Amino acid sequence: MHHAAYIFDAYGTLFDVHAAVRRHAAGIGPEGQALSEIWRAKQLEYSWTRSMMGAYLDFWELTVQALDFAFDKVPSADRSLRADLLDAYWKLDCYPEVPAVLKALKADGARLAILSNGSPAMLEAAAKSAGLDIVLDDIFSVDAIGRFKTDPAVYDLVTTAWRLYPDAVSFQSSNRWDVAGATKFGFRTVWINRTDQPDEYRDYPPGLILPSLNGILKAS
Ligand code: LAC
Repeated sequence: MHHAAYIFDAYGTLFDVHAAVRRHAAGIGPEGQALSEIWRAKQLEYSWTRSMMGAYLDFWELTVQALDFAFDKVPSADRSLRADLLDAYWKLDCYPEVPAVLKALKADGARLAILSNGSPAMLEAAAKSAGLDIVLDDIFSVDAIGRFKTDPAVYDLVTTAWRLYPDAVSFQSSNRWDVAGATKFGFRTVWINRTDQPDEYRDYPPGLILPSLNGILKAS
């Protein structure tokens, strides 16, 4: 079945969140991977707790706070790289297949957008740096409503703006918890399971599971 509206999660799905640390791996030392994983886990935890508390702070601020916590947890990591790591977040690598897949969908007449926790400035910079800005019709940021995923109001940003029923949207995310939220909202969902994770949130299953975005072209 052909879906005309494709919505993509940003971090982990289009952009490699671990690219920042990898780029500076030599300087950070042997615990770079731990630093990167703690950084990402805390960034997400802060988004969920702050949504529940009703105490929104933009995702950039959460990203900074999460990195500072990660440095505290991993004292061997060289803190002088803090500014470089934060700067890298504005120009993260996209996964290798992303530009070709998005261009092919676009050539096929689909509408494409990002829906992300990221702040508008972060998302615009990352999309531009990866050359994706030219194929995207829109970038939807949770900043418009001051709540993070998986609040249903986040997914509703797309259906309201594009005047679509939820099941007219194909939503791609590598974050299984985001897929659960989007499935519950009513999107058709594709879990991009890049790192071969076990399934979870089994009461909100994805419509399709793929190892990368490549399979979307065949599935549509
Ligand atoms: C995002 C986070 C979930 O881009 O990765 O919304």
